[in-house]
Amino acid sequence: MNKKFLVIGNPIEHSLSPKLHNYWIKKNNLKASYDKKLVEQDEIKQLILDVKDEKIHGINVTVPFKKIIIPFLDLLSDEAKNSQSVNTIYKDKGKIIGDNTDIEGFKIGLETTKKIIKNRKALILGAGGVVPSIIIALKKMQIAQIYLSNRTELKALEIKKLFPEIEIIEWGKVINFDIIINATSIGLNEKDEINIDYKSISQNKFFYDVIYSPKETNFLKSAKEFGAQVENGKMMFIYQAQKAFFIWHNILPTIDSETINLMNT
Ligand code: ATR
Repeated sequence: MNKKFLVIGNPIEHSLSPKLHNYWIKKNNLKASYDKKLVEQDEIKQLILDVKDEKIHGINVTVPFKKIIIPFLDLLSDEAKNSQSVNTIYKDKGKIIGDNTDIEGFKIGLETTKKIIKNRKALILGAGGVVPSIIIALKKMQIAQIYLSNRTELKALEIKKLFPEIEIIEWGKVINFDIIINATSIGLNEKDEINIDYKSISQNKFFYDVIYSPKETNFLKSAKEFGAQVENGKMMFIYQAQKAFFIWHNILPTIDSETINLMNT
């Protein structure tokens, strides 16, 4: 039987998930296919019924549905529950399960940079769906302090409800940090800019952007210019996909230079 997998989101056009999953499907000689689907919120219910009926065997969820999808599911993994964010859906023993592989994806992706996170301070920009996953991953890596700054402060405060230990910083202000993470969608659009003084804060700091396409956002470009070390979200993306692939196929696909290069083209 040809198993069917999907990534759903809105927008979805730029998702590289189909390319990566179909590459691994082929490498492992599996009878499966993985497509992207542009979805409106009122289509979610039917998609979950399709998983129940095994017309669809697994779904990846992306912006803006990671939280919205929760009420449609039967069970959540601990990681999905703690982050209130689901990126991977599957059926197990008749139940539709929501899981979160962004946390491990972010953690392993960051570990590959060999940057020391333990006892350091991180400033996160943004308060969208991926931010709780980043916070959980940083906590697992024993970060000392997390600061959070978002244009709409109310959304930052919502996240603080989940993680009271984080400190909210006014949008546009920058505190002393070791690592700064752009988790906003600024940068997806080349003309958008984050308004910070790169010159005074970049030297010897670590700048991380969750965005992997474009490869180097203005955020990373400007920071690099003034002496920062930078990293984009490519490895996070690849590792979250690897974990999802394992959940669905019970195979941990290889991540080698060919896999990584695939994401550059
Ligand atoms: P969602 O909130 O649906 O999960 P997201 O793309 O994950 O969507 O989140 C978008 C993030 O980028 C938000 O933190 C958003 O800030 P607001 O909460 O104020 O909307 C941030 N963002 C997007 N465009 C921005 C801009 N031009 N300036 C500042 N922040 C921006």
